[in-house]
Amino acid sequence: MSLKSHPKLELHLHLEGAAPPAFIRGLSQERKVDISGIFDERGHYTYRDFWHFLKVYEAATSVLQSPMDYHRLTLAVLEECAASGVIYAETFLSPDFCGGRDLVAWRDYLAAIEDAAAQAEAELGITLRAIVTPIRHFGPDKAKEAARCAAETAGRFVTGFGIAGDEKVCEPEDFLWAFDCAREAGLGITAHAGEWRGPEHIRATLKALNPTRIGHGVRAIEDLALVDELAERGTVLEVCPGSNIALGLYPDWRSHPIGQLYDRGVKVTVSTDDPPFFHTTMAREWDRLHDAFEWDDGVFATLNRTALEAAFCDADTRQALAKKLETAQ
Ligand code: ADE
Ligand code: ZN
Repeated sequence: MSLKSHPKLELHLHLEGAAPPAFIRGLSQERKVDISGIFDERGHYTYRDFWHFLKVYEAATSVLQSPMDYHRLTLAVLEECAASGVIYAETFLSPDFCGGRDLVAWRDYLAAIEDAAAQAEAELGITLRAIVTPIRHFGPDKAKEAARCAAETAGRFVTGFGIAGDEKVCEPEDFLWAFDCAREAGLGITAHAGEWRGPEHIRATLKALNPTRIGHGVRAIEDLALVDELAERGTVLEVCPGSNIALGLYPDWRSHPIGQLYDRGVKVTVSTDDPPFFHTTMAREWDRLHDAFEWDDGVFATLNRTALEAAFCDADTRQALAKKLETAQ
């Protein structure tokens, strides 16, 4: 069976990480940049482990060199999302990649991405919002510059702030200034944690940065007191099971902790992270979860409701999405 046609909300999607490999290969040929080493013989992205994945990701991103490239990318990504039944997505955007953290350039990139999003909304019925995301291993000073870009452009489209990259680099409090700056600008707060470091790092992230959502957070399962705390606080986890399995965090779907987290009352949502890198789509994530945990329509409706409540969007958008979910039932 396939849950492809069910409407879905996706809160954790890296725009460059969602780039189809053929799209990146085509651009690399246009730009005459040799990145052939990041593809395997079938044309898929190839990497050895998470840290190598980050390098491959940055190599792929290096061929995206103008706002028009991001316009094309956004359309290509949203087409894929819509084909999986996604009606609402939030995407991570990094001023590091979009204009080198220069505010004037960042505005140009954003305008192009927002224009493509409006086109996709009109043609495909999918809504996109953006979460500005510094890259952790680029360091706290660059994160500050990214936060300034985020604060200057916060509004209907740029609605959140987060952090991605190598979780093992720096401590959460190193990014306090950047997160405070974003919070003061009214942005929703999320942070990758509990993917490559364990429960203590999730605790430290909650304490220092006070996010309402955690990117991944799955390694909370190693400390059941933390699981209870997450459930009590109502912290929403942006879980990306296919990503965790592809990157070797868990050997297979049945071993993934999302089932236990859900059963223990944690607010979980499901996303794809970097879908072509992990050979996944939102439809595939739902289908595999159905197979592994026998989740039925009721559970998937709960996932959608949780994502809708946790979405970094304005009240009108939330209401319109609620209506779409209702009429689809
Ligand atoms: N950037 C893109 N995908 C990521 C992931 N899974 N973890 C951290 N940073 C990322
Ligand atoms: Zn991620």
